[in-house]
Amino acid sequence: MQKPQQYRHKEIKKNSKRNKKRIKTPKTTIKMPNDYKVSVRLKKDLIRGLGKHSHHRAAVKMLPTFVRATPDGTEKGDYLALDLGGTNFRVLYVRVVEEQQKVVKMDSKICSIPQEMMLGTGEQLFDHIAQCLGEFLESQDLKGQTLPLGFTFSFPCEQKEIDKSILIRWTKGFSCSGVEGQDVVKLLKEAIHRRGDYDIGSVAMVNDTVGTMMSCGYRDQSCEIGMIIGTGTNACYMEEIKNVKRVEGEDGRMCINTEWGGFGDDGSLKDILTEFDEVVDQTSINPGVHTFEKMISGMYLGEIVRLLLVKMAEDKLLFKGETSEALLTPGQFETKYISEIEDGLENAQKILTALGLNWDPVDACVVRLVCDTISSRSARLCAAALATISNRIRVNRGLDHLKTTVGVDGTVYRKHPNFSEELQAAVRLLAPKCDITFLVSEDGSGKGAAMVTAVAQRIWLPGCMLSFIFLPIFVYI
Ligand code: GLC
Repeated sequence: MQKPQQYRHKEIKKNSKRNKKRIKTPKTTIKMPNDYKVSVRLKKDLIRGLGKHSHHRAAVKMLPTFVRATPDGTEKGDYLALDLGGTNFRVLYVRVVEEQQKVVKMDSKICSIPQEMMLGTGEQLFDHIAQCLGEFLESQDLKGQTLPLGFTFSFPCEQKEIDKSILIRWTKGFSCSGVEGQDVVKLLKEAIHRRGDYDIGSVAMVNDTVGTMMSCGYRDQSCEIGMIIGTGTNACYMEEIKNVKRVEGEDGRMCINTEWGGFGDDGSLKDILTEFDEVVDQTSINPGVHTFEKMISGMYLGEIVRLLLVKMAEDKLLFKGETSEALLTPGQFETKYISEIEDGLENAQKILTALGLNWDPVDACVVRLVCDTISSRSARLCAAALATISNRIRVNRGLDHLKTTVGVDGTVYRKHPNFSEELQAAVRLLAPKCDITFLVSEDGSGKGAAMVTAVAQRIWLPGCMLSFIFLPIFVYI
């Protein structure tokens, strides 16, 4: 990737701003990472992940999804959607209405997934999902029907076919036994059969990034990238099939789930990791896994800030050198506090009081600056990754200039006061030849999953099961 003149110029300006943003403690300096360097490294990792022989050792997995088409607006029908990817599990009944070109949510139900279940057995988890789905169907009087189902399962899966998806590993605090290496659709069906009181139709497995891209694709057919910045972070995009070396075929495109959260798991980001990132990683339930995600996403940002504040208090740079029980407790500084504190100093003061800290007005300003540093770093890392993907699509197509749309979702992107602006500005600098429209998804994980199922049905040909979209010719290696 050529480093544009305009970028170099802005970088110098930004660097001077960044220098001001450095927070110095006697032993620690947090500085903004070099976005450009990150982008160049990711560019190489994308190629490694797509390679037939390099894939197995690639940190960025680049998983084929078998989704070969985005919506064309003629899809229709009734679907069920399941959404599992965070602390809640959702069931939705969705109608895709062709005339109005819209996806209508008829009804939905949320079931919480208790912490013990996230760490329990796979059987318990899938029984809970089947029970929640059963109660929902009962309440909607749908138990007698066998509706097609889109299952948004937001974890890295090796998709063998559209309804066969092997969990590679858990992320985001889940660690249920007996699921890694197993087909998630099979586990779901087995749990439903154990109950025996209802059945489901054909299943389409979807990552949340893909659901997000597809739900935005119904509104804007140039949407070819899906990005999530929430509890976790990830992106998918439409890649040329000839570059997806593990899938046979030369023509057309396929959606690739990058699993960019794993970027850095091979040590490639070591020089930009801080001691706080290292503690977050070491104290997580999956050390060494999803390094990039741990610097960016909502599950970890609050904890990074908490560790920094503790260190600064211990170094007598904050709160007159005192801490509090809450500040010393892992997980007590929630990621949503970052957004609230950056939104206004009054919020900062309320939160510091609630955390039992003995603060003065300067402390409140410094805490706000710490939050800003960590959220800015997150936005700029995401921007570097998104710019890499956009540049790749542009070069893939031999274009001098690319106009494209990114479907986005996730609480960090939606709720933080200036995260989206900062991310977009950084992408413009890093990918100056890409004109990117950002479209916030309307429930990509729910409606998007139904849309993937609907597109699959549109292209379905008798005797040629889903082959146009989800061509299951996977080259096993
Ligand atoms: C984690 C998962 C990934 C998902 C992302 C956002 O990174 O591994 O599959 O898309 O979180 O939810």
